[in-house]
Amino acid sequence: MEHWIDKIDAADSLEELESIRIAIFGKKGELARAFADMKNVPAEEKPKVAKELNLLKHSLTQAFEKRKATLEAKALEERLKAEALDVSLYTPRPQSGALHPVMQTMDRIIEYFTDLNFAVETGPLVEDEFHNFEALNLPDYHPARDMQDTFYFKDGKLLRTHTSPVQIRTMMEQKPPIRMISPGAVFRRDFDLTHTPQFHQVEGLMVDRKGNVSFANLKWILEDFLHTMFGEVDIRFRPSFFPFTEPSAEVDISCIFCEGKGCRVCSHTGWLEVLGCGMVDPNVFKAVGYEDVSGYAFGLGVERFAMLIHKIPDLRSLFEGDLRLLEQFQ
Ligand code: PHE
Repeated sequence: MEHWIDKIDAADSLEELESIRIAIFGKKGELARAFADMKNVPAEEKPKVAKELNLLKHSLTQAFEKRKATLEAKALEERLKAEALDVSLYTPRPQSGALHPVMQTMDRIIEYFTDLNFAVETGPLVEDEFHNFEALNLPDYHPARDMQDTFYFKDGKLLRTHTSPVQIRTMMEQKPPIRMISPGAVFRRDFDLTHTPQFHQVEGLMVDRKGNVSFANLKWILEDFLHTMFGEVDIRFRPSFFPFTEPSAEVDISCIFCEGKGCRVCSHTGWLEVLGCGMVDPNVFKAVGYEDVSGYAFGLGVERFAMLIHKIPDLRSLFEGDLRLLEQFQ
């Protein structure tokens, strides 16, 4: 009956082991039969045969218990493996939307000025020459019209090239004093590394009784605004020209990429131009019928602000809709 020990050791599963157990230890099993056969053993040999049988039963029991423990451990291990939670497993998450970085920047700019009680005005994207050019002191023959390459419609209307026509519309609809900004899309026939045919501007206009609005007021608010947007930067006002302001200036901040030392982004000047501004030209007030007033105006490009605030090197990446970029701005 020793061969049963090999069978026990070879049992591959608890089920197989159980059927072996029944065959050996069961009521009608081999051991029961062997003990029953004792009655045929001559009396003088009985103690010896009984002892051998008991020893065999003992080693079979030991072999069985040992195999059972091994198979149970194996079964437990397999169950744990099957039920294990793989925390490194990738599961796609639902994607949440977010405002585009240009719109986030626009909102920050709007918030700065609305906190100072500037009203937010809007105007049509399809403009006419009067509001986009003429009233802004750019008559037909004025060479400054070449500054802005314009998308014209057949009927002479055009896509506005800047947000300045909203100054004109607001002044023609409202009496002074005026304190407004105008955010929105503008269009130019420009497409290269640093220009796209559509972009966004925020215009600003402040008008009050003559003498009540000065260049000093303009300088103060733009310096405070730029420090709010860009932090501790140097700011300089550089004399410039716009047909609708006199005097005019362009405003630079010290380059935020190289801290003014000079790099590729600032063309090694240490400065980045961020907006245009000036005192509203008397011809503009004449065009809208305002008298005895003075005012300042400014205009800025929102994409440029977004790129500088977030240090985005390529303007086009703002328009490609690449989620890998956009997800960084949630
Ligand atoms: N409209 C000008 C532009 O698009 C910006 C500007 C606005 C400059 C108001 C001065 C005053 O370049």
